Amino acid sequence: MTAYTVLQDALRAAPRPWLVTGAAGFIGSHLVETLLALDQWVVGLDNFSTGKASNLDQVRAALPAHQADRLQFVEGDIRNTADCTQAMRHAQGGAVRHVLHQAALGSVPRSLLDPQATHDSNVTGFLSLLVAARDAQVESVVYASSSSVYGDHPALPKVEAQTGRPLSPYAASKVMNELYAGVFHRSYGLRSIGLRYFNVFGPRQDPAGAYAAVIPRWCDALLRGQPVQINGDGSTSRDFCFVANAVQANLLAATVTKEEAFGRAYNVACGARTDLNDLFRHLRDGLQPFGVSSATRPVFADFRAGDVRHSLADITAAGSLLGYVPSHDLAAGLREALPWYVQTCQDRPAAG
Ligand SMILES: NC(=O)c1ccc[n+]([C@@H]2O[C@H](COP(=O)([O-])OP(=O)(O)OC[C@H]3O[C@@H](n4cnc5c(N)ncnc54)[C@H](O)[C@@H]3O)[C@@H](O)[C@H]2O)c1
Repeated sequence: MTAYTVLQDALRAAPRPWLVTGAAGFIGSHLVETLLALDQWVVGLDNFSTGKASNLDQVRAALPAHQADRLQFVEGDIRNTADCTQAMRHAQGGAVRHVLHQAALGSVPRSLLDPQATHDSNVTGFLSLLVAARDAQVESVVYASSSSVYGDHPALPKVEAQTGRPLSPYAASKVMNELYAGVFHRSYGLRSIGLRYFNVFGPRQDPAGAYAAVIPRWCDALLRGQPVQINGDGSTSRDFCFVANAVQANLLAATVTKEEAFGRAYNVACGARTDLNDLFRHLRDGLQPFGVSSATRPVFADFRAGDVRHSLADITAAGSLLGYVPSHDLAAGLREALPWYVQTCQDRPAAG
């Protein structure tokens, strides 16, 4: 029995009310789905800036009505304290006990083009959320940080205490999240935990648009016979993390009881590095049953501004303090994710 299976049994036996911000987004919708499948009461908050109602429709459709009906959705904005406050109560379940905060504007390039918008949602919005969570006296707040906080620190693997200078407004916003969460823990006793996600992937990660992440974007291009562009020479590497691992880390962090676990941030990844050339081969080969040719080659372009060259997580701290053990490596995650990308590509006439 892992800590996660023990926790799942405990949650099923005694359901609790949870708030998931960014519920209509990629990771948020998986948190909602897992919590509902465990019979929890869930408030979802989202302003649909990048999230989609269809993500929550897919979640509801995948569950029996008695579980799907436990989702209470608030269309609102984390920059608005009244919206955050409204979201701290579930009509049937009562006062929210745990907050899983995912709402933010993602993407390094987006933040370089529009740093103000990134700051507004990711920092000002985060502060509103913390104030509302403090006032509602929730038991814990788990929030999405990012591997981007390691910035220009050269050490590999990345260990939580060794961060460098942030390389983008997005990275700066996540550093600010960790600072504010730490301050709220020390000043108000708010039990906060940051999760530094490393390149999360999985179903419902949007393949379209200028800021799409690499795995859905490349799958979409491969399936449509369009060129796959690698920024740089392909040696850039990442610790790709299947979304089920991120969900596990959130639930464990929200319910941990060791006091020393709070007021800090943890790497959430697999502890394995894959370079972009290898990732390309994984995707091309995995998509061969869907008509992608083994002869397909990528095209190479310049390295992208603000991108970190290599990323690999040390996941010891999440293991020892939270009981986190990733359930899926890259290959296992792709086996679950690729059919969704194929289906989505077939359903959508063209990328954009
Ligand atoms: N996906 C990754 O690889 C990754 C890596 C590191 C960190 N993160 C972080 O994880 C979190 C979730 O990322 P994701 O990949 O699911 O992104 P996503 O864009 O799919 O989800 C974010 C959600 O937040 C909502 N949102 C944004 N601003 C809001 C606001 N002001 N008020 C209310 N809702 C708002 C969006 O509409 C969207 O539904 C984000 O904080 C992101 O920065 C993600």
